[in-house]
Amino acid sequence: MRVIMLGPPGAGKGTQAARLAEHLSVPHISTGNILRRHVEERTPLGQRAQEFMNAGKLVPDELVIEMVEDRLAQSDARRGFILDGFPRTTHQAEALERITEVDHVLNFFLEPEALIKRSVGRRVCPKCEAVYHILSNPPRAADTCDRCGAALILRKDDTREVVEERVREFEKRTTPLIQFYRDRHVLREVYADGIIDEIAHRVLRAVKSHE
Ligand code: AP5
Repeated sequence: MRVIMLGPPGAGKGTQAARLAEHLSVPHISTGNILRRHVEERTPLGQRAQEFMNAGKLVPDELVIEMVEDRLAQSDARRGFILDGFPRTTHQAEALERITEVDHVLNFFLEPEALIKRSVGRRVCPKCEAVYHILSNPPRAADTCDRCGAALILRKDDTREVVEERVREFEKRTTPLIQFYRDRHVLREVYADGIIDEIAHRVLRAVKSHE
């Protein structure tokens, strides 16, 4: 199954993408995570992407499209994939159409203030990329990853100011994709308020009702 997770920052795409990928035994491909790894390793791509990411802006299309094309060419993506955070512009969506078909585009939606609360309270593991929230999804021991024991961090772009800019970028540049995929009859709406397990049920219902 080939699935795209669409939605504003903090809606819970990554959390649900990880679960669905495990359920379907397909790779979870997060462009945000791949870019953050490049930044961490100071690759040429990471050095170009960093300033856009820290400012809450989208990284230029040509950098991201090539990166995704390379990732989808790997053998584990042949059986399907969960694409989390890509495409984000019409240009990216058109490029993806030239690379592969998609079965479902899950459009996560949530009230703006909830998006901010989820993002500023998020803590991530820099080592294994697990995601937590200080209130709704805390680790067992404070500031420590349950999975690998590394110290959790706050993402640089999870300050209120940068999250607000990311929401504006989403509204301006990504919302046209809702109509783009509705026209192709693959858009499934997912209301993202509720506990994580409940949203996971909604996600499964959304993909199963269109099999
Ligand atoms: P990216 O990493 O993709 O960030 P995003 O899309 O802004 O999404 P987030 O990771 O912020 O949120 P999410 O929806 O995955 O929520 P999560 O599950 O973590 O991109 C970062 C940057 O990289 C971009 O700004 C851009 O610069 C660049 N980039 C990436 N892709 C690009 C592209 N295609 N083109 C150009 N640039 C690109 O959940 C959020 C929090 O809420 C967590 O703490 C979680 O524990 C908690 N939570 C989750 N679900 C629930 C729930 N049901 N109830 C309560 N809490 C919940």
